[in-house]
Amino acid sequence: MKIAIIGAGNIGGIVALLAIQRNLGEIVLFDVLDGKAKGKALDLMQMATLLDRKSVSIYGTSSYTDIINADICVITAGVPRASEKESREELLQINLATIRQVACGVREYAPNAFCIIATNPVNVMSYIFYKLSKISKNLVVGMAGILDSARFRTFLSEELRVSARDISTIVLGDHNKNMIPLINFSSVAGVSLMELISMGFLKKEKLDKIIERVRNGGEEIMNLTGNCSAFYAPALSIVEMMESYIDDKKRVLPCSAYLNGEYSLSDMFLGVPVIIGNKGIEQILEIQLEPDERIKLINSSGSMRETISKIKL
Ligand code: LAC
Repeated sequence: MKIAIIGAGNIGGIVALLAIQRNLGEIVLFDVLDGKAKGKALDLMQMATLLDRKSVSIYGTSSYTDIINADICVITAGVPRASEKESREELLQINLATIRQVACGVREYAPNAFCIIATNPVNVMSYIFYKLSKISKNLVVGMAGILDSARFRTFLSEELRVSARDISTIVLGDHNKNMIPLINFSSVAGVSLMELISMGFLKKEKLDKIIERVRNGGEEIMNLTGNCSAFYAPALSIVEMMESYIDDKKRVLPCSAYLNGEYSLSDMFLGVPVIIGNKGIEQILEIQLEPDERIKLINSSGSMRETISKIKL
């Protein structure tokens, strides 16, 4: 596999590190700042000599020609949020120019790649990338739901004092305060959260607090670090998507996908459960949402529609 990581920032660097550790393929680390890509690639190459590995291929570049025929493109390019005041949507204008360039580069040199978008606001950026790159819809997918679901799982595990491994969570829709953590489809060893509340194992007020914390998961980290958004969990979320594609695992993962009638929504990207295999998004699962969840999804789609209608493609 040739894996092009476009954007050698924090998330891009950790994706490269994890991909090397897991032996996922040959890595091209791209950044418009040539030295940044080359420097990180060199550092990673030196790290790789400390691993028990025959050979590791990692190359830093600022030239799109080097991503030629990549099998996977991970797009992390753009500016992350640096303060709470700056919403993911406010990044839109800044990152729009970047995503336009990336879409042109990928379209020219890697038009058959499986493309994972992490640049925020992720649903909008995935849409713009999809439209401009003209890559098929099953090969363009945004990362957000896995990260938000991991945060939900973390906080539930802490509260309930049970292994996070036995907790299954799902968060759909937007990757902002309007995200939709699905209570009925989240469970501990198969027991739904509502049942856990009836059993007295989980308090409703605690669950409400946890959901609020999940919604602010990115801000919480940014406020603690001072000026930097999360990158470890986002990077591993991307790697999970990559591995499901590479190994045809057919994992069911909440991801930002192009909707073409699913959930009665069309021509937009939103977070939904998808099956990822070696054909990319092989299916979008349409699950029965509760009325309030459905309303939230419609509201998210409305603001999404408004945002993308203002963008000249
Ligand atoms: C976050 C960023 C990656 O949620 O959107 O931390």
